Amino acid sequence: MKVILINGSPHENGSTRAALDDIIEELQDNRIETKLYWVGMKAVHGCIACGKCNETHRCIFNEDIVNEVLDDMDHADGIIVGTPTYYAGANGTLECIMDRLFYAGNNFAHKPAAAIAVARRAGTNAAIDDLTKYFTISQMPLATSVYWPMEFGGNAEQTREDAEGRYVMKRLGANMAWLLKCIDAGKKADIRPPKDTGDRPWTNFIR
Ligand SMILES: Cc1cc2nc3c(=O)[nH]c(=O)nc-3n(C[C@H](O)[C@H](O)[C@H](O)COP(=O)(O)O)c2cc1C
Repeated sequence: MKVILINGSPHENGSTRAALDDIIEELQDNRIETKLYWVGMKAVHGCIACGKCNETHRCIFNEDIVNEVLDDMDHADGIIVGTPTYYAGANGTLECIMDRLFYAGNNFAHKPAAAIAVARRAGTNAAIDDLTKYFTISQMPLATSVYWPMEFGGNAEQTREDAEGRYVMKRLGANMAWLLKCIDAGKKADIRPPKDTGDRPWTNFIR
């Protein structure tokens, strides 16, 4: 079983990475494979609504991690996304990536997911809610913890001193591992996710 993690910070080894590392450790202790992606520091394109991904399930822009993550999601069993809090929301670069990832992807449904946020002081709940919406519109069960998954600190060193935040991340990792094992046991017992009936009405509210 494999979980993909995305570090949505321009700091490769900053606070977000520190928080994700606690989750990774717990997942690996539970014999879950992990793959960590980093959004990097280069400019990232937003979605231009070209619609090409409706046919290909990949994005026309190849310069960042979007298509790599989409390829990997074909085989991965879950995903965890971490962001630094920017103006009480997720980092804009990560939002661009998430828009394109979820608009293009057809391989997210029924895979557990979680969003975590770090901040110096405030806004983490809004950032987590923001990212969680990608999962809840995509039939993804949420892995949760004993508190909303946030850690505080202005840099990695400070964040590592947030003992309660670190505990929360570890519980999140353990709960994600447990969910994956339950789903795997379900598959072995022939319990499969419900299939889409294919007769969904598509209504735009124009009046
Ligand atoms: C553009 C920008 C906006 C920020 N907005 C907030 C904020 O709203 N609340 C907060 O507590 N910290 C804010 N911060 C601080 C970061 O969230 C904090 O330093 C975090 O630890 C950075 O994580 P990183 O090391 O993974 O990048 C902001 C930082 C930047 C660069």
